[in-house]
Amino acid sequence: MDIDTLATLARGIQHCRSCRLWETRTHAVPGSGAFARRTVLLGEAPGEKEDELGLPFMGRTGRFLDGFLEHNGFHRDDFFITPAVKCRPPKNRDPRLDELAACRDRWLGAQLEALEPRMILLAGKAAVRQTLGLEDALTSINGRVFEYRGIPCLVTYHPTAMMRFKKIRETAVKNLANLHDILRTA
Ligand code: URA
Repeated sequence: MDIDTLATLARGIQHCRSCRLWETRTHAVPGSGAFARRTVLLGEAPGEKEDELGLPFMGRTGRFLDGFLEHNGFHRDDFFITPAVKCRPPKNRDPRLDELAACRDRWLGAQLEALEPRMILLAGKAAVRQTLGLEDALTSINGRVFEYRGIPCLVTYHPTAMMRFKKIRETAVKNLANLHDILRTA
C-alpha cells in the first residue's frame, strides 16, 4: 500500500477535467477511509452534500450507511470508500458509460494499484458496470464474487436502494456476513 501515491492521486482528482462532469462539480470526491484494512467500497457518484464537502456518503444515505454497517459488525473506517465517478452528475443523473470509463482508466485503476485491496465491495449498478462491464440486473448477480484486476469483488446493493427497499436490505445483510467470512480467511 502506498499512501503518498493515494494522496497525490487525490490531488489530481480534485483538478481532473477528463470528462464533462468537472464543469458542474463543486468538489470532486477522491475517496476516504482507512487504507490499512484494504477493503474498498466502490459506490456510484457524489450527491449534493458530497459535492459540497468533497467527502463520500455525507448526506442522508451516508447516515443510513453508517447505521447499516454498524448493525452488521462493520464501521465506515473499515473501508476505503470511493465513488465510481468522483464528480457529481448534474441533477444526480446516472453516470454515463464514458464517464465511468474515464474515471476508471485515469483514477480508479491507479487507486487500486496503490491500495492493493484484499476485497472490493461493488455497491450498486454503476460500480458493477465500471469494473466488470456487466449490464445484468443487480438482483441476478447480487451476492456473487467476481474478479477485477485480480482482486475479488463482492456484488451488493447501493445504500440508496437499501434505504428504500426492505427486501434488498435483508439480502445486503447476508452480503456483509459473507464479507466478514471472506476477510477472516483472506
Ligand atoms: N459512492 C456513492 O454512491 N456516493 C458517495 O457519496 C460516495 C461513493
